Amino acid sequence: MYDLSSIFLIQSDANDSIWEMYHANTKLSPCHMPPAMKRDDPAVELNDALRKIHIEEIEAAVGTGGKRYATTEKISLPATWPNGFDQPLKTVLEMRSSQREFSPDVLSHDQLSAICRIACGLKLKSADQEDIVMSSRFIPSAGALYPLELYLLSFSPLSGGGASGAPTAEVWHYEPQTHCLERILRCDPGRIRGCFQTWPELPPPIVALITGVPKRQSWKYGPRAYRYTVMESGHAVQNIVLGAAAMDIHACPVVGFYDDALHDLLDIDGVNEVALYTVFVGQRVQCHSNIKNEENESNE
Ligand SMILES: Cc1cc2nc3c(=O)[nH]c(=O)nc-3n(C[C@H](O)[C@H](O)[C@H](O)COP(=O)(O)O)c2cc1C
Repeated sequence: MYDLSSIFLIQSDANDSIWEMYHANTKLSPCHMPPAMKRDDPAVELNDALRKIHIEEIEAAVGTGGKRYATTEKISLPATWPNGFDQPLKTVLEMRSSQREFSPDVLSHDQLSAICRIACGLKLKSADQEDIVMSSRFIPSAGALYPLELYLLSFSPLSGGGASGAPTAEVWHYEPQTHCLERILRCDPGRIRGCFQTWPELPPPIVALITGVPKRQSWKYGPRAYRYTVMESGHAVQNIVLGAAAMDIHACPVVGFYDDALHDLLDIDGVNEVALYTVFVGQRVQCHSNIKNEENESNE
C-alpha cells in the first residue's frame, strides 16, 4: 500500500501537525459560551460600557472600515450592474466553471466594478453614493468586522496609458467606502507573473487578489479568528467566480502563488496583512471553432 500523502504532498508529514495543532487549539466548546446576562446588575452594565469603549478603540486601531491609500490616481467605479446579473441563480451556478485561458482584451469598468462590489463592496440603496449602507456587504463577515482587502493586478493601464516607456502593469487597491480603485503601484508585468507558480499560456488581463487582516477579528475571537478570515476569503472568491459566470467572462481561483512575492509586491508585512486567495479573471478566449466559422462566413 502506498501512503498517498507521501506521493502528493510537497510538504513533509511533519508539517501535518501544524494544521492539526491549529485546529485542535481553536475549537469552540460550551465552556467558551458567554455567561448569561443578569438584568439590572450594575457590574454587567459597567462591563458593557467598558467593552463598548474598548471595541470602538480596537475597531479604529485595526481598521475595520478598510485600508486607504494616499494616492493621487483613483478610478470611481460605476454603480450600475453589468449585463447578466438579472439571470436566475440556478443558471449562473450551472454556468460557473474554472477557465484557464483568457483573451488579452481589457475588462470594462462595469465589469471591474461588479467584481469589486460583490467581493468586498457595500450594498447601495441607490446609485447615489450618499446612500451607502455602511455595514451591509454582499458577503457575510463574522462579527461584521470585515477582515479582507481586495487588490486588482492589471497587465495594462486601467485609466488610460501612462507616460511612454512607463511599466505597463499596475496594482490597484479597492476602497469599499467610496467604491473607488486606488493605484498603488506601476510595475513590470514580469513582476506579477513571477508571483505565481504556474502561468497560463493565454494569461488573464486581471488578477484579483484577496488579503486578510486577521487582527480585525482576533481581538474578538482569539486564534480561532484566523479560520473566519480564511473562510471569508472563500465567500469573496465564490462571489467573484459566480459574478464572472453571470457576465459570461472567464475566471479561475488560484492559490499557487508565492506568498512573500505578493507581500513584497503590495509592500505588506505578510503577518498583519496576508495574501489569502487570487482569482484570474478576463474575457472569454474566442474558441477556434468560432474563428473558423467566422472565416468561412466571410469567404461565402
Ligand atoms: C482553494 C482552491 C484553489 C485552487 N487553486 C488553483 C490553482 O492554483 N490553479 C488552478 O489552475 N486551479 C485552481 N483551482 C481550481 C480547481 O482546480 C477547480 O475548481 C477544480 O478543478 C474543479 O473544477 P471547476 O471549478 O471547473 O468546477 C483552485 C480551486 C480552489 C477551490
